[in-house]
Amino acid sequence: MKPVIGVFFGGNSVEHEVSVISGLQALNSLNKDKYDAVAVYMTRSGEFYAGEAAARIEEYADLPALVKKCERVVPVPAGGRADLIFYPPRKLGKKLYATIDCVLPVVHGTNVEDGALQGFFRTLGVPFAGCDVLASAAGMDKFVMKTLFRAAGLPVLDAVRVSEAAWRADPDAELKAAEERLGMPVIVKPVDLGSSVGITIARDADALRAALDNAFLFSDAALVERALTDPREINCAVLGNADDAKPSECEEPVSGGDILSYEDKYVSGGKGGKGMSGAKRLIPAPISPELREKIRGYAVSAFRALGCEGVARIDFLLDGDEVFVNEINTIPGSLAFYLFEPAGMKYPELLDELIRLALARERRRARRSTSIDTGILKNYKGGTKLRK
Ligand SMILES: Nc1ncnc2c1ncn2[C@@H]1O[C@H](COP(=O)(O)OP(=O)(O)O)[C@@H](O)[C@H]1O
Ligand SMILES: [Mg+2]
Repeated sequence: MKPVIGVFFGGNSVEHEVSVISGLQALNSLNKDKYDAVAVYMTRSGEFYAGEAAARIEEYADLPALVKKCERVVPVPAGGRADLIFYPPRKLGKKLYATIDCVLPVVHGTNVEDGALQGFFRTLGVPFAGCDVLASAAGMDKFVMKTLFRAAGLPVLDAVRVSEAAWRADPDAELKAAEERLGMPVIVKPVDLGSSVGITIARDADALRAALDNAFLFSDAALVERALTDPREINCAVLGNADDAKPSECEEPVSGGDILSYEDKYVSGGKGGKGMSGAKRLIPAPISPELREKIRGYAVSAFRALGCEGVARIDFLLDGDEVFVNEINTIPGSLAFYLFEPAGMKYPELLDELIRLALARERRRARRSTSIDTGILKNYKGGTKLRK
């Protein structure tokens, strides 16, 4: 029997739609001679739907109609795999929709890419591709990732973290602290979002106030970072794990304005159902061989600094010759497959490698003990009343 790969996408994130496109791309690219694939669409309210309609992109134009055509399922532990059982449970007939051997999470953004979904699969005990819980969580928080990059000796732009609570309590003090440390202009980003949502450049104190208020619509905290004027952007993906991590080709995304917007990333070049891989970009990036090697080296270091596994894309900002690591995406759009193609790796092969790494991690974990026999509960006579 072929291993069953559960491709999970959607979820309660501002990048829900993008994840649907990435997820179905991955589903269609899995080598069907090697695997059986199951599409699992997660609604914004946390319900899971499977079925043939869930695998067809056209159906997503009408979500209420889509879920009616699908089977609602819930994943439950099944001895190192996950059973998708029909929900509500059926008294008669088939009770099990499918049993999943390995999950391929193709999700973007908070509540899914940030370790939440990875923790869910870990709790179920089913292998899953990509970063584990800690790397996923660290990679979602722009302040935490910057701190880890800095600790690893990587060049990053200086920034401060402003919490909404501190901002509401004393905005003038927060403004002053940010301005004194960073000067102007600055760029304000919700601390744990992606796809340029909620990001604004501020050139003076009033604009910074407005930018922070806007960022707090999305997150409890904001990153205020020194802004570069007209930086070039270069991205490089990395594939592997702690033992062996390899960089991809570099790309230069092309923006239509000041910052690379949601529109630039997904809409303007995204015709023909190619999603993120159809956005405007130059591959290979037109940079010198020396700069390319430097960036590829930094990308591997950044991947290692967070303890990433699977595939991640590391984004850089160039200020003249100066290179800064901007951010990591632990589940990049289109899983960054198009960055591995120039070196001869096709998307199905990238997916093979992600599944292989997921199963290898699970074998390593299985060797570690998760129980020690203390006999505490067998001999326990203490009750559970609180004692002074
Ligand atoms: N320090 C900066 N200076 C100038 N532009 C920036 C800076 N940081 C980010 N940008 C621009 O904003 C875009 C989005 O910022 P980024 O940190 O990548 O957040 P996201 O997670 O939303 O992609 C970048 O692609 C770039 O165009
Ligand atoms: Mg980005």
